[in-house]
Amino acid sequence: MNTLAGSLWLASVLASCTDGTGMMADAGVDDVDVPPDMTLPNCSGTASFSAIRRQILPNCEGYGCHLSAPYAGELNLTAASAYTSLVGPLAKAAPMLQRVQPGAPLASFLWRKLDNQLPRDSTQGVPMPVGAENFWTPLSAEQRALVYCWIVAGAENN
Ligand code: HEM
Repeated sequence: MNTLAGSLWLASVLASCTDGTGMMADAGVDDVDVPPDMTLPNCSGTASFSAIRRQILPNCEGYGCHLSAPYAGELNLTAASAYTSLVGPLAKAAPMLQRVQPGAPLASFLWRKLDNQLPRDSTQGVPMPVGAENFWTPLSAEQRALVYCWIVAGAENN
């Protein structure tokens, strides 16, 4: 399938999802040009929620995403709601998991979305963030470490 056809197909699938009806087509690791370095971060520095607000949440902008209503996945990541939407609530797409379980990144749906630890059958949606041409655009290693280490450190509103 050539790139243009692939993008058009994905765009039509994404258009059907952004009306809030459910999961996007699976966009696994083999859908990205350069598979990301998936080794678990080493938490040496300090990771705070205010750093996540500055460096990560702006990536959650876009039509049908998390910074304007209707919030994708019912996840409101606007400044006033981001912390309480993430820490504690159960995930919509995986109600057996909390979006962020303080101290437990591997059990946190946010990390599984950012790390693409998702079933291939799309039952828990696609990896995040969704980027250009609706393909998964993994966060950088530094950004991943920030989220992972913030959760390890207890996911405080700091
Ligand atoms: C770093 C930025 C982003 C983060 C942290 C993020 C995080 C998440 C999380 C945790 C969920 C699951 C919510 C739940 O089931 O409880 C989710 C779902 C969703 N997100 Fe994002 N997201 C980001 C960027 C985006 C962008 C840019 C878009 C739009 C282009 C988007 C569209 C969606 C959609 C449509 C869903 C529901 C379908 C699914 O679970 O795959 N997200 N996101």
